[in-house]
Amino acid sequence: MANVMVTGTGRSYALGYNLALRYLEGGDTVIATIRKPSPEIDELKEKYGDKLIVVTMDLLDSGSVNLAAEKVAQKTDHIDTLVNNAVGVSPDCDKGFFEADLDLIPRTVDIIAVGTMRVIKAFYPLLIKAPGTALIMNISSEAGSIEKCYRTNMIDYGMGKAALNMATMNLYNTFKDDHKVNIFAVHPGWIRTDGNPDNPAPLSSYEAAGILKDLFETRCEDFTGHRFITNEGVDYPF
Ligand SMILES: NC(=O)c1ccc[n+]([C@@H]2O[C@H](COP(=O)([O-])OP(=O)(O)OC[C@H]3O[C@@H](n4cnc5c(N)ncnc54)[C@H](OP(=O)(O)O)[C@@H]3O)[C@@H](O)[C@H]2O)c1
Repeated sequence: MANVMVTGTGRSYALGYNLALRYLEGGDTVIATIRKPSPEIDELKEKYGDKLIVVTMDLLDSGSVNLAAEKVAQKTDHIDTLVNNAVGVSPDCDKGFFEADLDLIPRTVDIIAVGTMRVIKAFYPLLIKAPGTALIMNISSEAGSIEKCYRTNMIDYGMGKAALNMATMNLYNTFKDDHKVNIFAVHPGWIRTDGNPDNPAPLSSYEAAGILKDLFETRCEDFTGHRFITNEGVDYPF
């Protein structure tokens, strides 16, 4: 059984919570991070007890992330898999270039890309203590692909995910020689992460989480392939 950390798990209809749930159902120990109190996670904690470690952290704040890592280190000696799922976008995300307030963009990029790097840096000491190769899966998006970009909106989100993809590649280069930590960026599919049954996306968050969990198990030792993949394990252009 593995120790698996998932960021951004506070909403039961969204992906992070369902990833945590899938791993708990599989018997793994889960470190679930939240930004603010979550009654849904409290309920999971009641059910799974010590198998679920809940920690509060804000990706925008290095102090908060480092403190979370200290707290987790008091409860577990290693992390096998880290899924960086948390995301935050600006209220202007759906607007185009001429309408969007450009000053809102840096915060989104900070959460998605820099925040993820803060988490990886703070939890790295626990990742390298994994008995096998530790795996970092950065939940990216097709919206972060520069080559495939067709949109004129979602500027902050697309820039954040493109920056996350760059961070993934840079950290791959940093980690790859000793094979202790592996890392990918993953487009998780089109998912009803808002919990709205009218959402036309084909996958529920629970279905998507199951697909991703299975995929992650197959990629841990892959140090040669392309670093940006889809939920079907297919290479996606940066
Ligand atoms: N839905 C899709 O079709 C689709 C497609 C491609 C990629 N994705 C990716 O899949 C992942 C999950 O999407 P989702 O819609 O399920 O996500 P979400 O519910 O919108 O957000 C996930 C969590 O991130 C947390 N968060 C926001 N800002 C934070 C911060 N500063 N520090 C710490 N946590 C923070 C939120 O916490 P609070 O609950 O406290 O706000 C939230 O619970 C995301 O990375 C998304 O980009 C989704």
